[in-house]
Amino acid sequence: MTTTTDSASHFSHPDRNLAMELVRATEAAAIRATPWIGRGDKNAADGAAVDAMRKFLGTVNFDGLIVIGEGEKDNAPMLFNGEHVGNGRGPACDIAVDPIDGTSLTAAGRPNALSVIAVSDRGTMLDASSVFYMSKIVTGPEGRGVVDLSQSIGDNIRELAKAKKKPVGEIRVAVLDRPRHEGLIEEIRAAGAGTRLLLDGDVAGGINAALYESRIDICVGIGGSPEGITTACAIKALDGFMQGKLAPKDEAERAGGIAAGLDMDRIYDADDLVKGDNTFFVATGVTDGGLVDGVRRKGPVIRTESIVLRSKSGTIRRVSADHLAAKWLEADQL
Ligand code: FBP
Repeated sequence: MTTTTDSASHFSHPDRNLAMELVRATEAAAIRATPWIGRGDKNAADGAAVDAMRKFLGTVNFDGLIVIGEGEKDNAPMLFNGEHVGNGRGPACDIAVDPIDGTSLTAAGRPNALSVIAVSDRGTMLDASSVFYMSKIVTGPEGRGVVDLSQSIGDNIRELAKAKKKPVGEIRVAVLDRPRHEGLIEEIRAAGAGTRLLLDGDVAGGINAALYESRIDICVGIGGSPEGITTACAIKALDGFMQGKLAPKDEAERAGGIAAGLDMDRIYDADDLVKGDNTFFVATGVTDGGLVDGVRRKGPVIRTESIVLRSKSGTIRRVSADHLAAKWLEADQL
């Protein structure tokens, strides 16, 4: 990463240290959101996560620029695009935050809500914030050169099955359960594959498609553009395959995207969504999910589970942490 300031002492192991700093922020966000699980108030849950994340990020040794904030779609609380986080001393980074991916899941008390941060070198994240939705396709490495957003979903399923040397009937496709995907879901089933319908949370869906031990083979469909960028950071660390194509809702959004320098017809690869090979992705479970467990109270401790991915080393770390609950109950422990 490029360094912006003064003391070389901050940067002896910037990459490795940064991963653990980031996981503290997602842990804090997940813990602070926990009282709101199942309380029917997604903005309160998101607000608690945002506040905790912002506070923790403020102490990190980096000069972080929020390129991908979250919340614009429904006036939820957010970490703003263009907001600087970190203490300013350290590597200059682009940041994508999703304090809770799955705010509705959290509010309803449903599984699969995550708190997420992705980081890359400054200037490497595509700023897709002017177009809310993106059509995505994510697989493990077997999908490279085999699946493509320009092909029909049926062809993609058949080609992926061949590459993975398994019958089409064993291919499992994660897709957000939305009316806009009715046709897509029919096509997946007509091709002979099975769907795994997601109520929300296509970041976890994409990661599960790329993880080698997962039961999901491919994640497709239209989800948030911000989530597309965070997913790309993870996919690069997992050596998976991903493409995204912006999916403007209407002509005005299309025009806004073009004015912002985005190409509405281009199929962006993971390397276009996030350039370079220095990405971090951290996620802590808010509620239980296939990727990580949610926050839980165990006697005197609050236990969190996180996944930490780093593209440079290609490591997948699972971090389980016990936090003394008494500390978190103190008014301003953060
Ligand atoms: P939020 O929790 O930020 O609302 O995002 C949940 C999510 O399901 C994302 O994972 C997904 O990319 C996006 O919403 C899909 O948007 P929509 O709910 O409008 O279909």
